[in-house]
Amino acid sequence: MNELSHLKGKTVLVTGANGFIGSHLVDSLLSLGCEVHCLVRRSSNLRWLSSPKIQFHFVDLADPNFKIPDLKNMNYVFHCAGLTKAKSRKEYFDINSTVCSSLYEQCLKFKGDIEGVVHLSSLAAVGPGQDGGLMDEAAPLNPITHYGKSKKSGEEVALKYSASLPIKIIRPPVVYGPREENLFNFFKLVRKGWGLQIGKAPKKLSLVYVADLVRAMLQVCGPSDVQGKVYFVTDGRTYSWEQIAKSAAQKMNVSVKALRLPESILSPLAIFFELLAMFSSKPALFDRQRMIDIRQSCWAASSENFFREYSFSPEFELEAGLSHTLDWYVQEKWL
Ligand SMILES: NC(=O)c1ccc[n+]([C@@H]2O[C@H](COP(=O)([O-])OP(=O)(O)OC[C@H]3O[C@@H](n4cnc5c(N)ncnc54)[C@H](OP(=O)(O)O)[C@@H]3O)[C@@H](O)[C@H]2O)c1
Repeated sequence: MNELSHLKGKTVLVTGANGFIGSHLVDSLLSLGCEVHCLVRRSSNLRWLSSPKIQFHFVDLADPNFKIPDLKNMNYVFHCAGLTKAKSRKEYFDINSTVCSSLYEQCLKFKGDIEGVVHLSSLAAVGPGQDGGLMDEAAPLNPITHYGKSKKSGEEVALKYSASLPIKIIRPPVVYGPREENLFNFFKLVRKGWGLQIGKAPKKLSLVYVADLVRAMLQVCGPSDVQGKVYFVTDGRTYSWEQIAKSAAQKMNVSVKALRLPESILSPLAIFFELLAMFSSKPALFDRQRMIDIRQSCWAASSENFFREYSFSPEFELEAGLSHTLDWYVQEKWL
């Protein structure tokens, strides 16, 4: 029996299925022979979900009366939908927290069939490391942004429902890989020969390559005596932005110079982007919330608990993960 055999031929519901992480998860579930039900919106871009085997359900989670599909068997639920950018605190909380109550309440109807639920949280729910140390699952939760606070609140809902549903919570750090659109902006600058550095102090972070995160999500929902457990899932290393820029530059065969932005420029820049976003339906690419995030010197966590309990070893460290990611950006003509 391999560590993913619990999923073979099972019926699975994925929220946020068309997103970066959700779409990679869907690919893996299909390759395991699962019956995959994707919860997406009418407006969702379905470019990564091309398999004819996928069954779509059009549901906007922002609708307070949303209903999940009434599936005959619902064996696994992966809750990947979330807002990583929004215009207001309320929008973050509506999607990242309030939705969870309604989703898990509706899941109770399938309680007899459900074998596992994975709730995708974030390192942001815990907040940055103090004194440069790695966060672990025992660390108190001190989120510092609307996003982080809403993810913490979503975790609290998941933990409450874990008394009745087999829920496990995964907290990734920054996730990268093909189809990713945020860190991509950093790689675009590297391609032009610039390694973006904010402020003078070195900044440390954890990363996880999307394929490793997906494998962890598939493994964590397997048979277990405990529910409501929370795990950080990283690639087991910590990096500096400088190191990431250097590795990406090497892979792209470009030489890179540090593009140092003083922290004092962040606030006016954020306000400028927020003002621009007032004329758009989309949230700003960079705002004062993101500014709080990027000012921190340490966004790093330890995955030792997960590695030990699940005998899990990440397959991709930065070099290998970047190689796949950058090749993909080039192949898709993003770079
Ligand atoms: N990427 C990272 O580095 C990272 C790190 C830590 C945690 N996470 C967490 O991982 C999860 C997935 O992130 P991601 O990077 O895959 O983000 P993403 O690409 O932006 O995907 C988010 C997904 O949520 C869906 N969604 C948002 N609002 C919705 C609504 N009202 N109704 C239905 N679906 C809605 C989106 O659908 P539309 O396309 O229709 O908007 C999309 O499918 C999130 O919970 C995020 O907090 C991500």
